[in-house]
Amino acid sequence: MINQADKNEDLVIRLEDVHKIYQMGDQQVNALAGVSTTFSAGGFCAIMGPSGSGKSTMLNLLGCLDRATRGRYILEGTDVSTLDDDALSELRLRHLGFIFQSFNLIPQLTVQRNIELPLYYLGWDSESSAERAVELADKVGLAERLNHRPTELSGGQMQRVAIARALANDPRILLADEPTGNLDTATGEQILQLLAELNEQGKTIIMVTHEPDIAMLARTRLHMRDGLIETIEED
Ligand SMILES: Nc1ncnc2c1ncn2[C@@H]1O[C@H](COP(=O)(O)OP(=O)(O)OP(=O)(O)O)[C@@H](O)[C@H]1O
Ligand SMILES: [Mg+2]
Repeated sequence: MINQADKNEDLVIRLEDVHKIYQMGDQQVNALAGVSTTFSAGGFCAIMGPSGSGKSTMLNLLGCLDRATRGRYILEGTDVSTLDDDALSELRLRHLGFIFQSFNLIPQLTVQRNIELPLYYLGWDSESSAERAVELADKVGLAERLNHRPTELSGGQMQRVAIARALANDPRILLADEPTGNLDTATGEQILQLLAELNEQGKTIIMVTHEPDIAMLARTRLHMRDGLIETIEED
């Protein structure tokens, strides 16, 4: 059941004292050590910080790929902390889009089929999915590559396919973990430009990045250290 815990329209995400503890043998790793923050609708936020500071852990929690050990996570009015696994998957499928450093495309499938994949899980018919894939490929500048396979594309093109796939379900929120991490500087900038355009069109974007130049394109920069938010900079 969905718990309407927060109806503030402008606030997409609220974390309240969120902890994530990994048990490694007899050692505990406090990957998140009590994070409380909010992300507003329509924002473009870069999560920064040293390796091991908890950036990916935080993004995975935000994306409902993982659960907090303790604390509350309110996503667009829903208290996600109380949802079972099926409800979490459903929420991911309908409301979130993901972009990963290593693209995570399916090598056996064409560009078109990769983009259509979430629509398949959403039960779309093949005609509507194909139309949507064509429209999205066009949006990311890959209309000419629909029948190619990922191995026939450049890194930047692969990331564009991944972005088109992330957009297939028309999510309000896009989450990206080092989306330019495997790209050269110029290509990385183009991908960032595409994310900035999507943000201007209304998508809320939360992106992990090591690179200060990349983070400068975001409008909010959140700095993490030792599983905590150290500072938040707003433009
Ligand atoms: N599945 C896991 N099991 C155990 N420990 C983990 C796991 N995932 C992450 N950690 C630990 O949690 C801490 C935070 O990891 P996280 O991956 O969030 O860091 P990060 O800021 O994304 O780092 P990087 O910049 O290297 O990607 C680290 O100490 C890491 O070793
Ligand atoms: Mg990481």
